[in-house]
Amino acid sequence: MHKFAVLKNIQPQPELVRENIKKNPGFGLYFTDHMAHVRYTIDDGWQAHQVKPYAPLQLDPAAAVFHYAQEIFEGLKAYRHADGSVWTFRPDRNAARINRSAERLALPQLPEEDFIESLRALVRVDQEWVPTPGEDADESSLYLRPFMIASERFLGVRASHEVDYYVIACPAGPYFAGGIKPVSIWLSQSLKRAGHGGTGFAKCGGNYAASLVAQNEAAAQGCQQVLFTDADENKYIEELGGMNLMLVTRDGRLLTPELSDSILDGVTRRSLLDLAPQLGLEPEERRITIDEWREGAANGDIVEAFACGTAAVITPIGRIVGPDFTIDHGEEPGERAMEFRKTLLDIQYGRVEDTNNWLVRLA
Ligand code: COI
Repeated sequence: MHKFAVLKNIQPQPELVRENIKKNPGFGLYFTDHMAHVRYTIDDGWQAHQVKPYAPLQLDPAAAVFHYAQEIFEGLKAYRHADGSVWTFRPDRNAARINRSAERLALPQLPEEDFIESLRALVRVDQEWVPTPGEDADESSLYLRPFMIASERFLGVRASHEVDYYVIACPAGPYFAGGIKPVSIWLSQSLKRAGHGGTGFAKCGGNYAASLVAQNEAAAQGCQQVLFTDADENKYIEELGGMNLMLVTRDGRLLTPELSDSILDGVTRRSLLDLAPQLGLEPEERRITIDEWREGAANGDIVEAFACGTAAVITPIGRIVGPDFTIDHGEEPGERAMEFRKTLLDIQYGRVEDTNNWLVRLA
């Protein structure tokens, strides 16, 4: 007996429409026929585990999420292997992270097995939506978006007594329209996404809301992403608008900002640090100043930079644009970035043995 009851969509998208979407899905544009849902109340806990037709939600205008932003989310992907089976990558880390986010946002803890079963239940029903990748560089997948919202109708400022958890899914190609072409990054000067004691480590919508004006500034400068520095001293690099950041040194180190309460503990970030020795690189997590990066790029000590995240996989960084300086890493994707990309995708798509036991079968 599956924990999630299935209520089938009697009007699924026609096969032709679905197949066309899968050929050119973009990112976050088209959604599958179903969604997973679990309801929470303070008296009864989590209940009514269900997969049901994808549809707009009915929420009271006074639902807490609209007013005080009690919302968290996750991002994972489902990968189709050559034998047709469908897998996801390290979902235990997302399950643990959604609970760290929940704790910070005063939302209830979701049992890890419910989190993973919600992914499995949805993908089982919508498995025809999982794209089949073409050549090895193809990163087509089904992006899974679990999220939790405060749905109680109450305008007092306190933690909601009613919460809803959903998982929706969309076929996904590359997050950046240009594919794996190096991206330009705007260094945000005065705008911050997170400070100490705040919610930076949590995957809550509010952090992303706080990044959007800076993201607009970036776009106005012709850049695809924004880089945030720390709120206290404005000199340590932290993360990008929606992904972590990695540098490669000439002497063989993989450098990334160490975790703090203002940096998201990315699953791709962690995995690249874990994989680094296999690629002959020594992982190093510590505080890194923008000046160190600037000087290192100029004198050849820092040879590559790339962004990493579930959505973005690994995207080389070509340029950092500051208010009065530019860091230039060139127009071509870095060699190490491409090696990491291949190593990671080969594991995720089952083209090499999963020696770390990172994959979990969904369908
Ligand atoms: C991810 O899933 O990688 C995210 O962080 C979410 C968003 C940037 C698309």
